[in-house]
Amino acid sequence: MIKAQDVNKTFGQLQVLKGVSLDIQLGEVVVIIGPSGSGKSTLLRCINHLESIDIGNIFFDGQSVAFQEIPGGNRIPVKRKDIYNLRRQIGMVFQRFNLFPHMTALSNVMEGPLTVLGVTKGEARRLAESLLAKVGLANKANSYPSQLSGGQQQRVAIARALAMNPKVMLFDEPTSALDPELVGEVLNVIKDLASEGMTMLVVTHEMGFAREVADRVVFMDEGMIIETGTPEQIFSSPKHPRTREFLSNVIRNYDNHSFPQVV
Ligand SMILES: Nc1ncnc2c1ncn2[C@@H]1O[C@H](COP(=O)(O)OP(=O)(O)O)[C@@H](O)[C@H]1O
Ligand SMILES: [Mg+2]
Repeated sequence: MIKAQDVNKTFGQLQVLKGVSLDIQLGEVVVIIGPSGSGKSTLLRCINHLESIDIGNIFFDGQSVAFQEIPGGNRIPVKRKDIYNLRRQIGMVFQRFNLFPHMTALSNVMEGPLTVLGVTKGEARRLAESLLAKVGLANKANSYPSQLSGGQQQRVAIARALAMNPKVMLFDEPTSALDPELVGEVLNVIKDLASEGMTMLVVTHEMGFAREVADRVVFMDEGMIIETGTPEQIFSSPKHPRTREFLSNVIRNYDNHSFPQVV
C-alpha cells in the first residue's frame, strides 16, 4: 500500500530524514515510536505529499507520490492534479483536531464529500451521520467544536477523515494534546478501525496501545529507522541500545499504567 524507498529530506542545513525505507501492506497497522524531533511527522507529511522529498521515492498503491520517472533516466515532481488525487485517498489525523470552528460536527464531516467528492447533500448527511455514530457521537451531530471535549473533537476529526473513504489512515500523535482521561476513547476508535482491516500508520507515545494494536512497531531516531519488529520484539527484547534507552526513558517519564513492562 505504501512503499518508502531511501527517503531523504532536508530543511535548509538540517537533514531530517536520512534514507528511510518502509513498506506497509494492505490491512497492516504500523506504529512509529521515537523521540521528539526524530522525523516522524515529516515522514507522514512526505507520504501525504505535504512535504516534498529530496532523494528517494514514495509509492502509494503502486503510484509514485514524489517523483515520476521520465524517459532518459530523469525524474520530475508529480503533477499537482496527481497530488490532489493522492491526498483524497489518504486520511490524516493530527495532534490538533483542526475542525472548522464555525461548523457543527455534522457539517465538518459532510464538508469533504460535498466539496471534493461531489455527492448530494442528502448522501453527505447520511454518510456523516453514520460516521458520527461509528465514533460514538451520534448525539453530538449539531454541536460546534467549542462545545465538544478534546476527545470528542478528535473523534469528529477521525470521522471527517473517514468520510473521504480513504485507503489508508495516517495518525500523527492523535492523543498527545488530550487530557489523560480522554485518551482512551480516541484510541478505542482507532483500535476499532484496525480490527476492521484499515491500513494505518500511527505515530504515538502510547506504548500500551502500540503493543496491543500494531502489527509492526518502527523505532525512529535522528531521521533513521533504527529498528523494526513485532510489538513483542520491540517492547520485550529491543535489539538496539537506542531503542532500549528510548523505551526506558518513556517508562520513567510517564508513569502510565498502560505502558508495558520493558526489560
Ligand atoms: N518545516 C520545517 N522547517 C524546518 N525544520 C523543520 C520543519 N519541520 C520539521 N523540522 C525539523 O525537523 C526535525 C524533525 O521534525 P519532526 O518530523 O516534526 O519530528 P517528530 O515528529 O519526530 O518530533 C526537527 O528538528 C524539526 O525542528
Ligand atoms: Mg511529530
